[in-house]
Amino acid sequence: MSPRLLTVPEPYLELDDATLASRIRAAKARLGQSLVVLGHHYQRDDVIEHADITGDSYKLARLGAERTDARWIVFCGVHFMAESADILRQPHQSVVLPDMNAGCSMADMAPTDDVIEAGAALERLGLTSIMPVTYMNSTAEIKAYCGERGGAVCTSSNCRAIFEWAFAQRDQVFFFPDEHLGRNTAIAMGIPPERIVVWDPKRPLGGSTEEELRAARVIVWKGCCSVHTKFHLHHVLDRRAEDPEMRILVHPEVPHEVVAVADAVGSTETIIRTLREAPSGSHWAVGTEYHLVQRLARAMPDKKIVILSKEFCLCATMYRISPQNLLWALDSIVDGHPVNVIRVPEETKRWAHVALDRMLQVH
Ligand code: 13P
Ligand code: SF4
Repeated sequence: MSPRLLTVPEPYLELDDATLASRIRAAKARLGQSLVVLGHHYQRDDVIEHADITGDSYKLARLGAERTDARWIVFCGVHFMAESADILRQPHQSVVLPDMNAGCSMADMAPTDDVIEAGAALERLGLTSIMPVTYMNSTAEIKAYCGERGGAVCTSSNCRAIFEWAFAQRDQVFFFPDEHLGRNTAIAMGIPPERIVVWDPKRPLGGSTEEELRAARVIVWKGCCSVHTKFHLHHVLDRRAEDPEMRILVHPEVPHEVVAVADAVGSTETIIRTLREAPSGSHWAVGTEYHLVQRLARAMPDKKIVILSKEFCLCATMYRISPQNLLWALDSIVDGHPVNVIRVPEETKRWAHVALDRMLQVH
């Protein structure tokens, strides 16, 4: 049974919302316990309603790996998340991503060859006590690169714990691919900003001097999230000027100028918990993806919850997962001809698994 990589067939595009929802429910009922549908918090409402487990990247990786009874893992999220589920799955399981074009622009900013070349350049300088750490939002090849060199994966909810684990073993951390999560974590740990150096793969020695690299505690790859870098300091100032009671809650992928003045910072799961635990009547401007903020605002009408920026901060690749391609994926499993099955090559999987296991052990 070989996987087919197709775009959603025409007839699915003609179904109305109610038909799509009822057919998804019927396909799920038919597959029963052999299926688990995982949904990241940035998924749209008409998809997340069908998820058996919702969560941030860490929670989905951990709980997805625990559902060993499910033959099929349908991942409503982006490609790197489905790859991680494929790396952690049991041999009898398969992972399906309803749209193979649901990628991540941040993960694409760290191509394997560039990372290998950067690591080799640092080694040529004699900097050998470096721990490579990659954000979950990276390709399986970058996870394997870290695993093979003693390093680990982290998510936005455990980045600091992984940095501490890394510093217990080596002098420096080389972090991919999110400059902002790397810097925010290092500053929260008390590392002075001048000892956090950005590696720009387009420039010789990443754009830094040999001395700067030698003195660095953390070297952060020049990558970013196209959604979270839309939040700026002036949004915080505007929101507070409009409403002095407004509290600012942001994801750690936002630039440090915003994190530095925010009232709270955390992963999507932490954002949800913080708002649920907040007193009734409190006011919040939230710096993260549009769908999650809108859903939280609707779920907690006793609190004022708005998105920090007034721009449309939507993750276009998360949005690619639609009820149409979710239904198509489920139907294809029911029919015995599954589409969009994720298969990380075995050699990559071996070392990426090591890096993911290190993360799961440290957290
Ligand atoms: P978390 O859900 O782990 O906070 O990650 C956010 C994100 O950008 C996922 O792509
Ligand atoms: Fe990638 Fe940002 Fe979208 Fe997350 S929100 S999947 S980091 S582009």
